Amino acid sequence: MVRAYAPASTGNVSLGFDLLGAALKPIDGSLLGDEVEVYASEQFDIEVKGHFAHKLPSDPKQNILYHCHQHFVSKLSERQKGLVPCAMVLYKNLPIGSGLGSSASSVVAALHGLNSFYGDPFNADEMLLMMGELEGQISGSVHYDNVAPCYLGGLVLMAEQAQRIAIQLPVFEEWYWVVCYSGIKVSTSEARKILPQQVSLKNTLTFGRQLGVFVHALHTGDRQLAASVMHDVIAEPYRKALLPGFDEARQFAGDNQALAFGISGSGPTVFAVCDNLESAQRINQWLSEHYIQNNDGFSHICQLDPQGSTATRV
Ligand code: HSE
Repeated sequence: MVRAYAPASTGNVSLGFDLLGAALKPIDGSLLGDEVEVYASEQFDIEVKGHFAHKLPSDPKQNILYHCHQHFVSKLSERQKGLVPCAMVLYKNLPIGSGLGSSASSVVAALHGLNSFYGDPFNADEMLLMMGELEGQISGSVHYDNVAPCYLGGLVLMAEQAQRIAIQLPVFEEWYWVVCYSGIKVSTSEARKILPQQVSLKNTLTFGRQLGVFVHALHTGDRQLAASVMHDVIAEPYRKALLPGFDEARQFAGDNQALAFGISGSGPTVFAVCDNLESAQRINQWLSEHYIQNNDGFSHICQLDPQGSTATRV
């Protein structure tokens, strides 16, 4: 049997809409990501367990794992005949519609688990292409900013070239990323629909400048410069209306030495970047008390997960 784990991720990182993403790992050692087991079985089957299992459709054909399996097996059948049949278990640990790359985590854990189970027939770029396609089926558009960091780990820039889907960037290891999920659901496709289809020339220039400066700052180790350009001119002005308490949370984070603050993916999770643990703890505490709306919500102090998804034979 193979057991795969795929971490939560934050898409956009404010300044890189659809182009930047990072894998997350709570500093207290808790797991924040979905797990998938793949085992040999005469008959294909999907079992769903875990904290958020009850939020998934009960029909297995509507489960993303079903589509992952179909897609993977049809691709692999083009190369290999007589595949050993398998069955899968999904541990749905991440909330759906949270902005933490929940669907990407299931897709990456499923495909990584299947690839390992069948002896790693596909390379990293082939895997990423498949992951992007599957993620696109769920969210309504192909974007790699969750699947790529979830699979590769760290902070990732989407290159979307035929032979190079994604590029891992240098990171500041001492940065803390406080991520708080409010507990409400925001659908990515809905959160994309509210964005204007045209971006002003002013914002286009800001977007390009920020992304260029940020990548340069990462490569030269200039923390202050990197933090100074982490602003969202594309999505936050529109999406924050979907997030009760967003402005207050941003204000508190800013008043408490956060280097940056923004929406994680399409929300409702927000993130604050800090370069010292005390600020991160203060912001984590405040968000837990004020930004969370119901019992599904949570807040974690994270660092970037350098490893990404893993698959282990057990
Ligand atoms: N880049 C995507 C978006 C991420 O903002 O719509 C979704 O998690």
